[in-house]
Amino acid sequence: MEKIRKILEIGKELSTQTNISYLLEDILSVSRELTNADAGSIYMKKDDKLYFEIIQNDTLKIYMGGRNKKIEWPPLSIYSNGKENTHMVAVLSAIKQKSFNIPDVYENKQFDFSGTKKFDASTGYRSKSMLVIPLINHKQETIGVLQLINKKEGKKIIPFNKDDEEITLSLSSQAAVSITKQKLIEELQNFIESFINVIAKAVDEKSKYTGNHIQKVTILADIFSHAINEDSEYFKDVTYDKNFLKQIKIAALLHDIGKITTDPRVMDKATKLEATIDRIDIISERVEILKRDMILEGDEKSISQLEEDFKFLKEVNIGGEFLGDDKITRIDKIKSKYRYKLGDEEVSILRDEEAEMLKIRRGTLSQKEREHIQRHALMTLEMLSSMPFPNEYKEITHIASNHHEKLNCKGYPRNLCAKDLTLEDRMLAICDIFEALTASDRPYKKPKKLSEVFKIMQFMVKDNEIDEKLFNFFLNKKIWKKYTSYLKPEQIDID
Ligand SMILES: [Fe+2]
Ligand SMILES: [Fe+2]
Repeated sequence: MEKIRKILEIGKELSTQTNISYLLEDILSVSRELTNADAGSIYMKKDDKLYFEIIQNDTLKIYMGGRNKKIEWPPLSIYSNGKENTHMVAVLSAIKQKSFNIPDVYENKQFDFSGTKKFDASTGYRSKSMLVIPLINHKQETIGVLQLINKKEGKKIIPFNKDDEEITLSLSSQAAVSITKQKLIEELQNFIESFINVIAKAVDEKSKYTGNHIQKVTILADIFSHAINEDSEYFKDVTYDKNFLKQIKIAALLHDIGKITTDPRVMDKATKLEATIDRIDIISERVEILKRDMILEGDEKSISQLEEDFKFLKEVNIGGEFLGDDKITRIDKIKSKYRYKLGDEEVSILRDEEAEMLKIRRGTLSQKEREHIQRHALMTLEMLSSMPFPNEYKEITHIASNHHEKLNCKGYPRNLCAKDLTLEDRMLAICDIFEALTASDRPYKKPKKLSEVFKIMQFMVKDNEIDEKLFNFFLNKKIWKKYTSYLKPEQIDID
């Protein structure tokens, strides 16, 4: 009765344990308990080798693998010099998928037990009875071997009997199914996570300036979420389990996946007139034509004014500072003032769309271009929403897609408000902003010092764009310190 209860118990454990190594440890423990074996081991098969996974010996008090220390012993080779190593009982059991019940290994002539004897000599142990069972999965492949040693009856060591064989066999076939299932899950998870990493790297590669943005946001999100988890002051009620932390990391890796659809010329636009080339160079050529005309007409005194005006256009093109009304008026004046002959027509040195671009008040992007860039957040949302994430990944989509939303409802793509945004959504938004503000890989901008970055973010808190508590935690608990290796030394002007 007790045995049946144990078998049922391990059956339950087999279906819930997700750590393969722990699973193997429990299988060996229960097998030994049910058969009264003093010792035992489990090998797992990989690339034509049998690797020691678990070793247990009650008499010698040796417990290795599983929850105990890792086993460093060398594996058994299934082949040597192209031939099967059939003189080793574990190998033969794996190859032939056969069980072996040996009453006394010292008297057995079929197999080579020199390794066992060497172990005995060094420890004073005496290996005697042995039961060797192959672990076979649902595809009839050998995945490992289970070995039980020295069945006890009081102080005596006796051979394993038919019952022991049957119990161990039924246990091992259940175990093989669970191990295979768990391996399949792990392999699939590994595949998905590697795939996500590849996509994230590809998006990072698209822009020559914002190079490692996604990688760095992911590092920051990982630091931030672990800090929240460990904090007992600001977020004492928040605890993340391992899976939630993983989802935050994956969400960070995927947050800009929508940039796959963004035109890289717009993404990296360094000046207002940059298209495939910077059109300021074309304007410069027109200025030269105009200068030549001025010389021909004897109007040389206008040249210095033209040069002055062109210098102004070049400055405005960089988009370094906010453009006031006076400068907008000056661009219009330049447009109507400087004209030259092109065929039969007289044209301005500034085309309509060039003038419009130069009149961009902040940054280098036109409204249309800004909308194009912002579309990536909508694309992230649409792409992730169309993916059938399993239940344990259900937080990823909203954390990844809401990184440009603001508490004051003025963000994008959905104009969500504070009530719609979870703590993790808000956290990733802060990571995204902090990385963008501290990034030093944009050649046309000097990296900002931390004091400036925090000042800007403080304004964002004031304008109800980002979460105040998270920001204060990040700043006051100095979470950012764990990220300083990604900053330039000259940026770190606070401590
Ligand atoms: Fe983004
Ligand atoms: Fe981003």
